[in-house]
Amino acid sequence: MDIKEAVIKRHSVRRYLDKELDKSAVNGLKTAISEACKDSGLDIQLVLNEPTAFTGLLAKYGKFENCKNYITICGKKGREVDVGYYGERIVIAAQMLGLNTCWVALTYKKGKVPVKPRAGEKFYITIAVGYGRNRGLPRKSKSMEQVCNVGTTEMPEWFKNGIDFALRAPTAINQQRFYITLNENGSVSAKSKLGPCSKIDLGIVKYHFELGAGRDSFSWEE
Ligand SMILES: Cc1cc2nc3c(=O)[nH]c(=O)nc-3n(C[C@H](O)[C@H](O)[C@H](O)COP(=O)(O)O)c2cc1C
Repeated sequence: MDIKEAVIKRHSVRRYLDKELDKSAVNGLKTAISEACKDSGLDIQLVLNEPTAFTGLLAKYGKFENCKNYITICGKKGREVDVGYYGERIVIAAQMLGLNTCWVALTYKKGKVPVKPRAGEKFYITIAVGYGRNRGLPRKSKSMEQVCNVGTTEMPEWFKNGIDFALRAPTAINQQRFYITLNENGSVSAKSKLGPCSKIDLGIVKYHFELGAGRDSFSWEE
């Protein structure tokens, strides 16, 4: 599966098979995680065979089943956008390894997680990972016009592909509270409106936009 196919096939999955991750999947995840730690300076860890953090919850967005493996992300304050960007890089790598995932900010038992942040750092979020009982489902999405400043008939092809992938990005409670601007000088700006985890969402969206548009097609502007 190539990386673009992985973006298209990814959906949140909360129900997993009662099956340990195989060696190659674990190795692939560990590689993606250590590269993300190196590039970001975040403290990202893989927790394997720990069934208690995701058990016995009545979650509004769907109950977790057989979730025993998850990724934790800790880091200094103010790193939300990087948490989203590098976390989603791991999510897409996991999809390419044949795994399914779900970002989880709230519906888990934090006290059961065996990872604690380092001094001066905070615990940001977890990402459930495993072999899904299903592959998840496409969900509702905003339209292109709602999330960017250019009409679909006027936008360059690379920008359109970027927006298409941005709309496929997971966001907390599917809020999609981001807005992408194609500036007059050809650069691109991405902003998030206030909402739960909306800065983490923004980092996820920026990673997706880069994959869709092509990293060499444009540069980001604050
Ligand atoms: C930052 C973030 C936090 C999330 N937190 C939770 C959560 O606590 N519980 C949960 O079940 N899903 C959570 N999700 C998953 C979203 O509900 C899901 O990504 C969204 O509905 C879009 O669906 P999709 O991922 O299938 O595209 C979270 C997603 C993101 C990006």
